[in-house]
Amino acid sequence: MLTLQTKICHLLGIEYPIIQAGMAGGPATPKLAAAVSEAGGLGTLGAAYLAPGALRKAITAIKSATRKPFAVNIFVSKEKDDFSRLAEVQRALAPFRKELNIDEPEISNAADWSRQQFDICIEMGVPIISTAFGLLDNESMQAAKFAGIKIIAMTTTVEEAKLAEQAGADAVVAQGSEAGGHRGTFSLATHPDGAQIGTMSLVPQVVDAIRIPVIAAGGIADGRGLVAALALGAEAVQIGTRFLLAEEAGTHPAYQQKVIDSNEEQTVITKIFSGRPARGISNRFIKEFEKAGTRPLPFPSHNTVTRDIRTAAAQQNNSEFMSLWAGQSLRLVNDQMPAAQILEEIMRNAQKTLKG
Ligand SMILES: Cc1cc2nc3c(=O)[nH]c(=O)nc-3n(C[C@H](O)[C@H](O)[C@H](O)COP(=O)(O)O)c2cc1C
Repeated sequence: MLTLQTKICHLLGIEYPIIQAGMAGGPATPKLAAAVSEAGGLGTLGAAYLAPGALRKAITAIKSATRKPFAVNIFVSKEKDDFSRLAEVQRALAPFRKELNIDEPEISNAADWSRQQFDICIEMGVPIISTAFGLLDNESMQAAKFAGIKIIAMTTTVEEAKLAEQAGADAVVAQGSEAGGHRGTFSLATHPDGAQIGTMSLVPQVVDAIRIPVIAAGGIADGRGLVAALALGAEAVQIGTRFLLAEEAGTHPAYQQKVIDSNEEQTVITKIFSGRPARGISNRFIKEFEKAGTRPLPFPSHNTVTRDIRTAAAQQNNSEFMSLWAGQSLRLVNDQMPAAQILEEIMRNAQKTLKG
């Protein structure tokens, strides 16, 4: 089969120019990352919310399942907790807790594990680290280079991509606004709601502005998207939403059903779950919290205060109160199958597209 080997495939040691996005909070499990890497793509562990011990276990699990390169994705956010409007926000959350039959929990600052997570990746020889919400500092970048670890930085504007290149990243993800999950934007002073440049516009402009390889992300779910991204000058694609239905993913079954049942008109970018803009399938939680008119707390504080609601909703199979992060290409994401088959289908579809 056609492999579409680009320079980044050699840089990362992969066969196909397809990266499975590190989706924190459940979907991107060690099993999924290992299955994608084993099948010739680059699997990524969504490690952002993993405590140090859990991260070590997850990396060990990937290493015992594959000898191929894989990535670990972490957040390097500079945002600090701010609970100054906690009482007001808790009042707006009370009806959801009542419906779920849960009590308001004690709230404390979010643990900032990013430094420890990075150190664990270095110590355990993770081949590739990808970052979101910011850039590694100079010292960390040097430590990664010294250890021979490649760094991929998520960006959402040309300026952010230039900063990532200057900071020493080996490649950037150009994340268009179609993308599922959080906007990777770190120029939040300029873009408090996340930069929202579409993939088709963003990718070629980033390609023109920097010399390191560009990975296109946002709305890419099949071989047509892969071929289009390569035509725009990207050397690979990063795909999230399509892998939510992979058999190895940890996506909640009620969430998977919403992905299957929803279409391109049903996603919104919202801060209502975490305080940071993110694209997901609209549900009652988003609509009713917005209607209440209370501003969410900033990230990561708002993520902390909604956690008990999201957890209880998952336990009760209630997708109306869960965060259902997903991108805009939902009609292309319908079937549950092993991750290896997803890669195979995308590559076969790319080949057909090129022949056509
Ligand atoms: C459920 C979900 C969770 C995500 N979590 C993360 C994350 O933890 N770190 C990250 O860098 N990107 C995350 N993303 C964004 C992806 O990196 C990528 O930009 C996006 O999935 C691409 O668009 P697509 O979903 O249309 O394929 C997430 C995306 C989804 C759908």
